Amino acid sequence: MALAHEKVEKNVGLMAVLIAVAVSFGGLAEIVPLMYQAEAVEPLPGVEPYPALELAGRDIYVREGCYNCHSQMVRTLRFETERYGHYSLAGESVYDRPFQWGSKRTGPDLARVGGRYSDDWHRVHLINPRDVVPESNMPGFPWLEESGIDATKLRRHMEGLRTLGDPYSDEDVAGVPDAVAGKTEMDALIAYLQGLGRHAPRGGE
Ligand code: HEC
Repeated sequence: MALAHEKVEKNVGLMAVLIAVAVSFGGLAEIVPLMYQAEAVEPLPGVEPYPALELAGRDIYVREGCYNCHSQMVRTLRFETERYGHYSLAGESVYDRPFQWGSKRTGPDLARVGGRYSDDWHRVHLINPRDVVPESNMPGFPWLEESGIDATKLRRHMEGLRTLGDPYSDEDVAGVPDAVAGKTEMDALIAYLQGLGRHAPRGGE
C-alpha cells in the first residue's frame, strides 16, 4: 500500500490522471442529476411559445443588447421579491432561446415588467429615457420607430423553433405576416416587454 502510494507521489503524470478521475466523480455527482432535472422542467400553466409579434420583439431585445444592462431573473431574496414580485421559476422560461436570466443589472430586472407601465410610457422611454426618468443613463433607441418587421425571416425563425420542439401550430406559422403587418420594431419590442412575467405566480413570496 505504502509502495503504491509512493509510486503515485513520484509520478506526476500518474498523479494528474488519478486527480482527474477523483475530481470527475464529484463533477458527475453534481452534473448528472441536473441533466435529468433539465429534461423534467415543464412549462408553468399558461406559459406558451411567444406569439409572432412578441417573438419579433424578443429578437430586437437581443439584437439591441438590452441584456447588457437588464437581467430577467428575480432571485429568491426578500428584497428582490418585494421589489419585483415572485422569484423566477424555470418553468417560465422554457421557450426562451437564448434565456435572458443574467445577473448584470445596470438597470432594473425586467422579468416582471409586463403591465407595470402603459405602452405609451414604454414608447417615450425607449425613444429617450430621460423624457420620463430624468436621471436615467439608459440609451435611447429611436430607430426602432422607423423599421418594420421582416415577416419572412420571422416565419423562418418560428419554424426553426418548432423544429427544436416549441409547439407552434401550422396556423401560428401561417399567421405571421398578418400578425406583424404594419407594425414597427418599436411595437414588437413593447409587445414583448408587456408580456414579461405575465404567467408569474402571484404574490411576493
Ligand atoms: C446602458 C444600460 C442600459 C441599456 C443598454 C438598456 N437599459 Fe433599460 N434601463 C437602464 C437603466 C439605468 C434604467 C433605470 C432608469 C430608467 O428607467 O430609465 C432602465 C430602465 C428600463 C426600463 C424600466 C424598468 C422599470 O422597472 O422601471 C425598461 C422597460 C427598460 N429599461 C427596457 C430596456 C430595453 C427594452 C432595452 C434595449 C432596447 C434597454 N432597456 C437597454 C439601463 C439600460
